[in-house]
Amino acid sequence: MGVNIDHVATLRQVRGGAWPDPAAAARICERAGAHAVVMHLREDRRHIQDEDLFRVQKAVSLKLNMEMSIAPSVVKTAMRLGPDQVTLVPEKRKERTTEGGLDLFKKPQTLRRVVEDFKKRGIEVSLFIDPDLKQIDGAKKLGVPAVEFHTGDYANQTSAPGAGRELLRLEKAVKAAGERGITPHAGHGLDYDNVKAVKKMEGLSELNIGYSIVCRAVWVGFENAVKEMLHLIQ
Ligand code: PXP
Repeated sequence: MGVNIDHVATLRQVRGGAWPDPAAAARICERAGAHAVVMHLREDRRHIQDEDLFRVQKAVSLKLNMEMSIAPSVVKTAMRLGPDQVTLVPEKRKERTTEGGLDLFKKPQTLRRVVEDFKKRGIEVSLFIDPDLKQIDGAKKLGVPAVEFHTGDYANQTSAPGAGRELLRLEKAVKAAGERGITPHAGHGLDYDNVKAVKKMEGLSELNIGYSIVCRAVWVGFENAVKEMLHLIQ
């Protein structure tokens, strides 16, 4: 499990001070047994700041998964940082959170160039895509080792049949990725309840979860919130 700590930084940005410190959150994730720490450097720098990434990288030996768009200023920071993994996501300035997966058929040349640059730098690339066969084939063509399936459509369902339909879609995508030699990850909108069905899915190798953990931390503390989620997943 990768813990996305963006919203620890969101809370800090509210007052513009030093607390809560994302590096301290990363240390707690490590102590609690998480497998990775995830940070999204948005183009508008609304939560995570460039220096947070460098401080977290120094603070823990956990895998650092940097989520990012392919905006030049963000790519530049990623190249300087050298995280273990980058997860390329679409970004809209006005959205509250990432609303869907990347369309790998939009600006394919730019995407390919960025993917190749990261590969040359020795950074693993994952693409955040919808659980869609066409996109999985696009990822295969780009030669990436991993994809992360956007679970938002599943998480947003309010009826059991709707959730069932989305789970099936996810399951098919996980299988298709595996058949093409691509490691499937998943994340977005997962919480302590809806994660239970997702974690049963065979072949999924990584879940990335942020918002629900930070919310839970308000009641039980950050370390307990991470441990409770890990317990559910394992
Ligand atoms: N994975 C990706 C690629 C994301 O963009 C996000 C949100 O930043 C997450 C996982 C975590 O989503 P949530 O905060 O809803 O758990």
